[in-house]
Amino acid sequence: MVSGTDALSILYGELSVVSAHSIIIRPAHPEDVDSAIQIFVQAIRKTASADYSREQVDAWAQADRQLWARRWRGCLTWLATANGKPAGFAELKPQGHIHMIFVHPSFARTGVASALLGRIEETAVEHQLATLSTDASITARPFFARHEFRVVARQEVLCRGQRLTNFRMEKFIGTQSG
Ligand SMILES: CC(C)(COP(=O)(O)OP(=O)(O)OC[C@H]1O[C@@H](n2cnc3c(N)ncnc32)[C@H](O)[C@@H]1OP(=O)(O)O)[C@@H](O)C(=O)NCCC(=O)NCCS
Repeated sequence: MVSGTDALSILYGELSVVSAHSIIIRPAHPEDVDSAIQIFVQAIRKTASADYSREQVDAWAQADRQLWARRWRGCLTWLATANGKPAGFAELKPQGHIHMIFVHPSFARTGVASALLGRIEETAVEHQLATLSTDASITARPFFARHEFRVVARQEVLCRGQRLTNFRMEKFIGTQSG
């Protein structure tokens, strides 16, 4: 059976039509690592490639599944689904560092990352974190700026022999008492 939204997606082909109301954020499970890696690779190759060279993209868009699975055990992780399909994911380190936030290009600019960040901010409040930080790509910088993160440093990082620019950004949450 094809739902109304699926029918629209078929009609529009590549241009997926997604209602913001269909976005669901849930804690990620270990078996979601494969979906997350797919999103990661596509987001870099199709979205971040507007801001980084071919060589930089090739160096960045690589993921070792075992390393990811191990890292996920030490992070809070969420998966976003849109129309029931994996659409984005985020990882938060315990001290309040957003290590990753990636959205599949099919769902770009439909509010998926904003929904993930909303969940991260709720968690930061629950954990009484004073600030959230991230190392935002050139591509992600306007997204974080839109959500009131400010740039505290421009950085050059080495990734498999390629030098990539990113920005240390922070947001004051200010929930700590005393
Ligand atoms: C950055 C990223 C996570 C944003 O995801 P998204 O789901 O498309 O973001 P949202 O739809 O929630 O965007 C919310 C707002 O942020 C701003 N924004 C998001 N992407 C933007 C862009 N490329 N340029 C300018 N503003 C942008 C806009 O104000 C947007 O609102 P609008 O669409 O109504 O104008 C996504 O583009 C991505 O995965 N990029 C490639 C990978 C990457 O760089 N990840 C981050 C590593 S630190």
